Amino acid sequence: KKSMNDVDVKGKRVFVRVDFNVPMDEGRITDETRIRAAIPTIEQLVNAGAKVILASHLGRPKGEVNEDMRLTAVGERLSELMDKPVNKLDESIGSDVEAAVNNMQDGEIILLENVRFHKGEEKNDEALAKEFAKLADLYVNDAFGAAHRAHASTEGIAKHVPAVSGLLMEKELDVLGKALSNPERPFTAIIGGAKVKDKIGVIENLLDKVDHLIIGGGLVFTFVKAMGHNIGKSLLEEDKIELAKGFIEQAKEKGVQLHMPVDAVVANEFSKDAETKVVAIDAIPSDWMGLDIGPKTAENYAEVIKQSKLIIWNGPMGVFEMEKFANGTKTVADAMATTDGYTIIGGGDSAAAVEKFEVASKMDHISTGGGASLELMEGKELPGIVALNDK
Ligand code: 3PG
Repeated sequence: KKSMNDVDVKGKRVFVRVDFNVPMDEGRITDETRIRAAIPTIEQLVNAGAKVILASHLGRPKGEVNEDMRLTAVGERLSELMDKPVNKLDESIGSDVEAAVNNMQDGEIILLENVRFHKGEEKNDEALAKEFAKLADLYVNDAFGAAHRAHASTEGIAKHVPAVSGLLMEKELDVLGKALSNPERPFTAIIGGAKVKDKIGVIENLLDKVDHLIIGGGLVFTFVKAMGHNIGKSLLEEDKIELAKGFIEQAKEKGVQLHMPVDAVVANEFSKDAETKVVAIDAIPSDWMGLDIGPKTAENYAEVIKQSKLIIWNGPMGVFEMEKFANGTKTVADAMATTDGYTIIGGGDSAAAVEKFEVASKMDHISTGGGASLELMEGKELPGIVALNDK
């Protein structure tokens, strides 16, 4: 895979696919991490005298123009952060875009409109990919967060113009790739979140790599059920009980220490005002539901984290958005912040959690990709990256 560091970009039109898919609330950007993360690449290209054409998706507009999903606010914020003009266009292809690109001076920045306003983007339509390619002498893919999508601006375009990886893409692959292929040990993975269904591939792949596997979140109750305990009204994926049993067996066979809850915070209803109590994991009352790991469990998990050299975390331990069920996730976040081990946060909800508990700056790496880092952890090849390898 070639890097943008390997090419002379002076005077060249460089099409940079970034992931500016940021959360928005009534037109305001609520988390600008992804914008900030793309700046080193943009800055390096600008300083080297490239004409920088930025492209991204935002949300899921389903191939139609959607006024709420324009990239206008993103362009304004990028311009403020870089202290440079950013020429935000209201299309991503066509004669107006071509004219604007032709008028660019070296070091200038254009931001194209949301590429998902075109149906061909998600279909990876070749004609659209060629329209993008036409704008550029070089393609830089820096959109790690969208690398698991084979779309026209993430994959198709790379077939029609020389393609290299950007700095953020390289850093993400470097950190996650090294962790998964040549980990420092003890290597611990913390897997949480609501559903077993979403984490099957990750657990399967990690069982061959880690020394410790810590499990929490809604998905843990299917495991607890698999161990033969009553789980009351806790989340249960009936059709995954056998699978969970299999994972427990495999962990034994492979010498992986599987860490499961010894207690849980249970509630009489799914509500921030619910009545709650802490119970042993084999004593969940039939009318109650587990919404967080218990304090003893959280302490056990923190201890494992503190003794590990490398820790990857994907998925919260409980319903941390509600205060009564936040302790498990907070304790894990605090342990991640204080361990001497190298800490990797696999995007999405766990990134939101370390943000909420104000320990984000203490993490060694917070991935900008949710789905993308999950697929890497499953051992999958990401199409956006494979497309760069081909070149
Ligand atoms: C993400 O937020 O995970 C990426 O930007 C991909 O977005 P998507 O799930 O809508 O393809």
